[in-house]
Amino acid sequence: MTDISAAAGDGAGQAPWWRSAVFYQVYPRSFADSDGDGVGDLGGLREKLGYLELLGVDALWICPVMRSPMADGGYDVSDPRDIDPLFGGMAAMDAIIAEAHDRDMRVTMDLVPNHTSDRHPWFRAALAAGPASPERARYWFRDGRGPDGAEPPNNWPSIFGGPAWTRVIEPDGRPGQWYLHVFAAEQPDLNWENPEVAADFEQTMRFWLDRGVDGFRLDVAHGMAKPDGLPDMAHIPTHMLHLDDDDPRFNNPGVHDLHRGIRKIINEYPHAVSIGEVWVHDNTRFGEYVRPDELHLAFNFRLAQTAFEPERIREAVDNSLRAVSQVAASPTWTLSNHDIEREVTRYGGGAVGQARARAMILLEMALPGAVFVYNGAELGLPNVDDLPEAALRDPTWERSGHTERGRDGCRVPLPWEGDRPPFGFTTGTPWLPMPPQWAGLTVEAQLERLDSMLSLYRMAIELRAVRPEFAGPGLEWYGSPPGCLAFRRDGGLLCVLNATDAPILLPAGDVLLTSAPLSGRKLPANSTAWLI
Ligand code: GLC
Repeated sequence: MTDISAAAGDGAGQAPWWRSAVFYQVYPRSFADSDGDGVGDLGGLREKLGYLELLGVDALWICPVMRSPMADGGYDVSDPRDIDPLFGGMAAMDAIIAEAHDRDMRVTMDLVPNHTSDRHPWFRAALAAGPASPERARYWFRDGRGPDGAEPPNNWPSIFGGPAWTRVIEPDGRPGQWYLHVFAAEQPDLNWENPEVAADFEQTMRFWLDRGVDGFRLDVAHGMAKPDGLPDMAHIPTHMLHLDDDDPRFNNPGVHDLHRGIRKIINEYPHAVSIGEVWVHDNTRFGEYVRPDELHLAFNFRLAQTAFEPERIREAVDNSLRAVSQVAASPTWTLSNHDIEREVTRYGGGAVGQARARAMILLEMALPGAVFVYNGAELGLPNVDDLPEAALRDPTWERSGHTERGRDGCRVPLPWEGDRPPFGFTTGTPWLPMPPQWAGLTVEAQLERLDSMLSLYRMAIELRAVRPEFAGPGLEWYGSPPGCLAFRRDGGLLCVLNATDAPILLPAGDVLLTSAPLSGRKLPANSTAWLI
């Protein structure tokens, strides 16, 4: 096994490997299936490591593969220190770590500190032990309000719809206390005020770091602390991604001590990175999560929430940079993930959506900081919005009383080869149906074509890694015509985006890469150019 810790910048004075890394997010259920059960697994991922090496990514972020009853695609963990047999068990994870390292790729795992599965032994014990027990004190059990305690303890809704509380049947057979679950009822929230919770999480982190993992994505990193007294919410939000920063379910000041505790442990593994899922809009409050003694990185979702409009894009970039620069942290960029509609669809779908997604990936890869690519984005996959209702698996569908379809549309398995579903993803029946129209989007169909989305990603990732023009932490905006954007990196790269519907003349400079073919010096509508 190669020692990549020395090669990738852990020495004194060198930037850490993750600062400008390209991370590839694997949603394991949907990536590649090795055993024909229709659900992707780590064996499938292992078979495709060569593909990811060819793509050129520096690191993997693997969504949860720990033991889970899969009520929320694995984000309901019943044993955080074992790999679910559905994904291939512990041996499969060890093989991924070893082989990814052999190929000079880092491996980061998704950990879920905010909640467990309702099948976790702690929660089973809490149900059995009854009110006021130490077992219940690891979670948020409360008596209900109203006559007989028949009303939930407060008015919080679950992110997936319905109330954030479920009433339990006590050991004596009568309805009794309620427990808090900000997500599905199968995901009871842990009480981080209980020192046993932090101690157990420490054990989990060490378990994986000692096995060779290079860091973690921390799920709901802004939600682990709850406010004193669990007060009612003043406004009930209408959509899971449009939360305001004062939502009492998230972003409570006590969360920062928890991150300081986590960071102390991670510091014992100097190569390792912690990346928080932080849905916080305000720049100052966002920056607090990446102070020098908290998380290394936090996902900034502004770009993923921004329409294809130059002014908005510029604001998103400026805000993301400002949020981290005030605490001297590194920015992160992401256009999509397993919770968000895919960018091709967000930008209008069809040929226009494809063109804009191509333009935006070049814009994103031109920025300083770490980039996160969601599996399938490199193939230009659109969302699948017409999945049959019977196929939907996201708990949102049931919990919203069939009013919100949820996130399955961005989780449809990847098409690898051939001309009809399941496109080499599995030898069985894929867990979500795959559209026959994806025949032109398979890896096989794109690999040799220079004009494909996949080739654009490969070229962009490579140039970003090797060219000196991408150096430096900063950028400067250039004057540009209406509907366009231009910035220059410290190292000299000039990035020009044309978001108008007509071609524009490029400024002086040698063209390094464009998201669409030029005609002469003219950059077509909905495209981006890199110049030096
Ligand atoms: C995060 C994950 C999401 C999951 C939720 C609950 O937001 O990204 O997929 O459903 O946490 O764990």
